[in-house]
Amino acid sequence: MAAFQPSLECDNISNIHSEQTDSDLIQKTDERYRETLPNLPKGKGWMTEHLVQYQGFWLTPNAALKNLMWVQDHFKPRPTDIFLASFPKSGTTWLKALIFATVNRTRYGFADHPLLTTGPHDCFPFLDAHLQEKDRSRFDLDRFPSPRLLSIHIPYILLPNSMTDHQSCRFVYICRDPKDVLVSKWLFLNKLRPKDLPPISLEEAFELFCQGISHYGPFWDHVLGYWEASLETPEKILFLKYEDLKKEPLVVVKRLGEFLGYPFSLEEESKGVVEEIVKLCSFENLSTLEVNKVSEQKFSKDTIIDNRHFFRKGKVGDWKSYLTTEMVERLDEITYEKLLGSGLVFGS
Ligand code: A3P
Repeated sequence: MAAFQPSLECDNISNIHSEQTDSDLIQKTDERYRETLPNLPKGKGWMTEHLVQYQGFWLTPNAALKNLMWVQDHFKPRPTDIFLASFPKSGTTWLKALIFATVNRTRYGFADHPLLTTGPHDCFPFLDAHLQEKDRSRFDLDRFPSPRLLSIHIPYILLPNSMTDHQSCRFVYICRDPKDVLVSKWLFLNKLRPKDLPPISLEEAFELFCQGISHYGPFWDHVLGYWEASLETPEKILFLKYEDLKKEPLVVVKRLGEFLGYPFSLEEESKGVVEEIVKLCSFENLSTLEVNKVSEQKFSKDTIIDNRHFFRKGKVGDWKSYLTTEMVERLDEITYEKLLGSGLVFGS
């Protein structure tokens, strides 16, 4: 399915798919990848056979590492770009829907909204998932109108300067209690694990997670990278927690609108527009739509994921049904130590 494009108008600004990505540059990135890969430490993979550690973070060797290098070497952000950054299983799908609905709220009515027939991941694609596709017409960033909505799992310190230095492009980061992230991730990736690999037990996933060995992990370094950057440049990075969004969705969505430069007017508020957005993007609504029950979402050349896998329970504290007391104590202790002095806390 092609990425959803709200309009065919587009800015004539060059980016990764412009003529500038000539074959020399592409070849250099390929060479960098080929030279780097064999020297990287390996760890057990949750979905793929193994992960590799690159500049402190664990990535899938064929997709995430290669795509990261492409972003680092070629991507040219526009000042108007809006990036949603997250550690996997922290609420990315939810935030994609909320940002898309907020930014495009004057364009679409709620009765026939694109989110009713198009999955959040098609409305708001991953920047780094399609860069190497041969058929670029599927995902042509040049044709995306501004503001482009692009999602990433890339850790903050691995982003190119062009993205972090840029005064105007903005990031929304969503994080979640690591205990819920671990459980959600374990269940999700076991579903996607090839049938020829044995399933990963919760005990094994827990050990790997504690050691930091999971897609884009260590979890704590990922979160802290964006947390610290959000403290330094709050006008550029909005740091959100899944739990706050669950508790006070209206408050958070209003903050989101303000931050993105799409503040809700008093008239909109009195007409209940914020409530409509929250309702449209709620777990209860999105998870029951046909498109999110059956449709296959192509993330990259090699990865097809059913939309339904992105909707499981959507609850805070589901870890209580899975983790033992010892696991909870150990994970809470690691979180406490890692976040000590940062000012960031997760609820228990
Ligand atoms: P659970 O597995 O705990 O249910 P991501 O989108 O980053 O992959 O995260 C997926 C998690 O977010 C899953 O958590 C999923 O159920 C939950 N989720 C998806 N859509 C949601 C929504 N609209 N509201 C709340 N949670 C949602």
